[in-house]
Amino acid sequence: MFNIFRKSKPKLSEIIPNGFIDIHSHVLPGIDDGAKDVNEAMTLISNMKKLGFSKVIGTPHVYPGLYENNKDSIKKSFESLIKYQNSFKIEVDYGAEYMIDRQLIKLAEKKNIITINDDYILIEIGFIAAPMDLYDIIFQVKLMGYKIIIAHPERYIFYFNNFSEYFKLKDVGCFFQLNLTSLVGHYGEKVSKISDKLIKNNLIEFVGSDVHNLRHINFFDKKLKIKNIKQIEKTLERNNLFE
Ligand SMILES: [Fe+2]
Repeated sequence: MFNIFRKSKPKLSEIIPNGFIDIHSHVLPGIDDGAKDVNEAMTLISNMKKLGFSKVIGTPHVYPGLYENNKDSIKKSFESLIKYQNSFKIEVDYGAEYMIDRQLIKLAEKKNIITINDDYILIEIGFIAAPMDLYDIIFQVKLMGYKIIIAHPERYIFYFNNFSEYFKLKDVGCFFQLNLTSLVGHYGEKVSKISDKLIKNNLIEFVGSDVHNLRHINFFDKKLKIKNIKQIEKTLERNNLFE
């Protein structure tokens, strides 16, 4: 626990609890814009271990037209990495990060989805705009018994001047996962500010690193730019649900 009476703000690395469980990362090799090969994956994982992580869930993009991944391709990438588990001494598991579109409904119908903890689906929304049928997709997928975690809500600039939309997503039962590096300004000042506002309004349930490369690891050495540090520390503990 970080000492709140200290004058300057803590570094991101200083608020990571020992045994932290990361539910969002791109450490699986050669499958999306994350780790290029097993060597890079192992470097990232050993750095995450040094930061205090005890478990890393690799969540490659499933993004029609860009990263055409599926259960098989993700499992294959995971297996190419897990062979070396003895050398990284940290638990590694796999999930996926689904770009939300109507294909998700079809995948859910066929039970062809990689979930986290049995029934959580990690989804992302495009950075330009949310799909017109966003709420219909959420409704239909939830109806099939899945829980939806929206990745990095603080990065969707089209919600910044429309903050009530976040409450609307909460009202339909979505969980929010904040990116840790948003707290230190990785995505700019506006994203840090919105992160703080989301934390203050108790809208964030989980956090993730969204680590793609070593550059992202370096952000853990930067100081927090937010005010609501105590609240985010509690949120970090909530990731224990995914043990
Ligand atoms: Fe991601």
